[in-house]
Amino acid sequence: MIHTPGDAQDLLREAQEIAQLGNTEFFVPDNGVNYWSPQVYRMLGVDPSESPSHVRIFAGLHPEDRDRCLIAWSRAIRGTGRLELSYRFVRADGVVRHIEARYRLSRAEGGSLRAAGTLHDVTERKTAEEAARRAQARLDEVGRLATLGEIAAGISHELNQPLAAISNYARACERLLSTPHPDMPEVASALGEIAAQAMRAGEIIHRLRGMIRHRETHRTVIAPNDLIRDVMSLLEMDARASRSALRLDLAPSLPFVLVDGVQIEQVIVNLVHNAAEALINAGEMAGEITVRTTLDDAGQVEVSVSDNGPGLAPGVEARVFEPFFTTKTEGTGLGLAISRSILEAHRSQLSYQANLPRGARFTFYLPTAPEPS
Ligand SMILES: Nc1ncnc2c1ncn2[C@@H]1O[C@H](COP(=O)(O)OP(=O)(O)O)[C@@H](O)[C@H]1O
Ligand SMILES: [Mg+2]
Repeated sequence: MIHTPGDAQDLLREAQEIAQLGNTEFFVPDNGVNYWSPQVYRMLGVDPSESPSHVRIFAGLHPEDRDRCLIAWSRAIRGTGRLELSYRFVRADGVVRHIEARYRLSRAEGGSLRAAGTLHDVTERKTAEEAARRAQARLDEVGRLATLGEIAAGISHELNQPLAAISNYARACERLLSTPHPDMPEVASALGEIAAQAMRAGEIIHRLRGMIRHRETHRTVIAPNDLIRDVMSLLEMDARASRSALRLDLAPSLPFVLVDGVQIEQVIVNLVHNAAEALINAGEMAGEITVRTTLDDAGQVEVSVSDNGPGLAPGVEARVFEPFFTTKTEGTGLGLAISRSILEAHRSQLSYQANLPRGARFTFYLPTAPEPS
C-alpha cells in the first residue's frame, strides 16, 4: 500500500496521540507564528480554536511548579541549547496532567529565540509511581509493626533471667530453712535478692506495656478489599516463597469498615505468612492460599485466610493463640497472639476452623462503618 503525504500527516497525528506526545514551536519575543500540534491542545485541554501561546502554558502551571519553571526559562533564553522541564499543568476543567517538556533553543533570523519542543504527558506513569510510593510507605509501616513482635520476643527473653534468678534464690531459701539452725542473715539476703529481681521483672513488663499502649491507632473508613490490595505485594512474596497459588475471592460492593488499616493489614499478612510457612513445612507441591471477603447474613464483613496445608493438630488447636506458642524452630509464637489482640481492640475476634477437605482457615469480622448522616 502506498501512502500519500496526506496519510503521513494523519499517521503522525495518530502517533502523537498514541505516544501522548505533542510538539510545539514558538519564538521569544512572540512573533505570532507559534505552533501547537493537535495533541498539545488535547493534552492541555485547550480549545483548538485558541491560538497557541506559551504564555497560556505558563498560566496553567501548577502553583508549586511555576517559580521553578520560570527560573529555568529565564536562564535558558539567555543562551541556546537544550532545556528539559517537568511540571504539572492544571487544565481549565481542574484536571492535573504531569508533563515532561524538552526544548531545543536556537537563534532565529533577526536575533529572536526559537524554541522547538515536545510535550510528553506522563500522568499515568506518575500516578503509578505515586501509588507505588504509597504502597512502600504502607509496607514500611507494616515492617515497623513486625518489629514490635520482635521487641516483645526480646523482652520475654529478658524476663526469663530475673525469673530464673528468683526461682534459684527461692530454692536456696528452702534449703537454708530446712536445716536445724538456719543461717538467718543468708536467708534474709536471698529474700532481698528475690525482691530485687521481682522489681526488675516488673520494670520489664512495665516497659513492654508502655510500648504497646503508646502505639496509637488510626481508625479510618476504608473499603475492606483495599486492605488486601494494599498488601498484595507482601502476600505475593509469601506465595512465591512457598511455591503456592494465591487466590483472591473478594466480594463486590461490601460496606465500608471503620478500622486501623495498618493493623488489619498486619493481621492479613500474619495469616498468609503462617499459611505459606505451613505449606513449606509440609512440602506441599500444589499449595493454595485463599484470601476471601464475604458479607454474612447479618451484613457483617468477614475476612478469611485459608490454605490446603496440614491444618492444626488437635492438641495444638487450643494453644495457637497463646503468646510464644510456636511449633517452628525459628518461630516467635507472636503472630496469632498479636493478630488476636488487634482484632479484640476492634471488638472482633480471630477464630480457627479446619478447612475442608484439608488445611487451616482463620476468620475474623470487621466492624462496619456507621452510615454517614
Ligand atoms: N495456617 C496454618 N497451618 C498450620 N499451622 C498453623 C497455621 N497458622 C498457625 N499455625 C500454628 O500456630 C502456631 C503459632 O503461630 P504464630 O502465632 O503465628 O507463631 P509462629 O508463626 O511464630 O510460630 C504456629 O507455630 C503453627 O504451629
Ligand atoms: Mg506466624
